[in-house]
Amino acid sequence: MNRQPVPTDRPSQLYASSTRRWRSWVPLRVDAHRASSATLAGAYPFLAPEPCDLGVYIGMDALTGGPFCFDPWALYAAGTLTNPNVLLAGVIGQGKSALAKSLAVRSIAAGRRVYVPGDPKGEWAPVARAVGGKVLALGPGLVTRLNPLEPGPASSADEADRRSIVRARRLRLLSAISETTLRRDLRPVEHGALDAAVTLIEHHDNPTIPAVVDALGEPDHNAAAADRTSPAERAADGRDLVHALRRLVRGDLAGMFDGPSTDHLDPAAPMVVLDLSALGSDENALAVAMTCASSWLEAALTHEAGGYRWIIYDEAWRLLRSVALMRRMQAQWKLSRAYGIANLLVVHRLSDLDAVGAVGSEARGIADGLLADCSTRVIYRQESDQLGTTAASLGLTRTERDLLPALPRGTGLWTFSGRSHLVRHRLHVDELAAFDTDAAMREMPDTRGTP
Ligand SMILES: Nc1ncnc2c1ncn2[C@@H]1O[C@H](COP(=O)(O)OP(=O)(O)OP(=O)(O)O)[C@@H](O)[C@H]1O
Ligand SMILES: [Mg+2]
Repeated sequence: MNRQPVPTDRPSQLYASSTRRWRSWVPLRVDAHRASSATLAGAYPFLAPEPCDLGVYIGMDALTGGPFCFDPWALYAAGTLTNPNVLLAGVIGQGKSALAKSLAVRSIAAGRRVYVPGDPKGEWAPVARAVGGKVLALGPGLVTRLNPLEPGPASSADEADRRSIVRARRLRLLSAISETTLRRDLRPVEHGALDAAVTLIEHHDNPTIPAVVDALGEPDHNAAAADRTSPAERAADGRDLVHALRRLVRGDLAGMFDGPSTDHLDPAAPMVVLDLSALGSDENALAVAMTCASSWLEAALTHEAGGYRWIIYDEAWRLLRSVALMRRMQAQWKLSRAYGIANLLVVHRLSDLDAVGAVGSEARGIADGLLADCSTRVIYRQESDQLGTTAASLGLTRTERDLLPALPRGTGLWTFSGRSHLVRHRLHVDELAAFDTDAAMREMPDTRGTP
């Protein structure tokens, strides 16, 4: 609001006497102004938005006291959302995962399915078990093994199309693993060596990563000749790839992705969680495992009859550190709408997306694209140094911006299609028990000595 003093040609009439010091007899000379309620909401933020009552119950709209519901597919069908993806940001311990879990569990009751392609803290397993879902725990020494090179379930695409889809997926996966492990982009000759190795394993019944490592070490003579190179030269081109992929065969990630799958994805399961908590805090191992796991899931996700599905990337800020993984996410997001998939990306702050790379870098471009592809943004409490970036990226009003550092746990600002709702997420008592991540903090024995 404009707070400039109102100009007057009778200043002496202001503060006419000491007893009436604060009274002005000068009429307020402000031109009449007319604007839409959408514009006025910026100046007068307490105009309540229209209720959002489509979808599953989330909690209470703190401005109206009414219920707030959400379902990206219903809102997309109603023309309110331009895409079904959601970004959820908030500082540690504010209830982001609790919200994601409520959204998942309540959406399952509404007939949706939920996939969590990587759970680094292992906190989704109890939720999946509570709804009769499947938990696949991956880690050194654990029995579950997934073959990320699996072709996936049959589809209606003709055989030639299907073969080229599977081939492209395998190449993307193997390049991503190699780039993450080598921490650099592949050279053109390395792409050539990988391409030849994938061609060589294509006619195996169930190709695996060890077969690719063998094919890289012993290239096919005819394929090498067709590419005007020699088998020895091609083997030399692929040497770094062999070392990178060997990590999954004999290195710290052995036994997880190096053979036929021990489990198969049940497309009818309400929830599937890939528990990666056994991998510990090694970010690089997590990125490689997540790349393989999401590739294995992708084969199942790109199934036409899968119905509406949530893919939840909790702790996504950890995944955003790997460019190769972000490239895979970007490719998968492009397919999302065609397959009825809504992605939920959970980060601490919007600057997590800036931190992936310098302005103009490929990583930053992908991160910006992922943010732009989330037409719903839910912002939980933010640190004061984040307010400017957050408000600028989301187009928040001054009042909304000032609310962010004071939001209590479980309360967030939901923004979509120019509307914003301040929503208090309500947890059912059973949800509270299943989603509790604070138990260790509360129940830790007090080791301070008694005075
Ligand atoms: N709406 C709510 N009402 C009551 N308790 C809540 C609510 N939301 C979260 N909690 C509780 O707060 C604790 C922390 O929540 P949660 O783990 O979801 O936070 P987070 O933002 O995901 O934290 P982190 O950044 O560490 O992953 C949990 O024990 C949870 O039960
Ligand atoms: Mg969390």
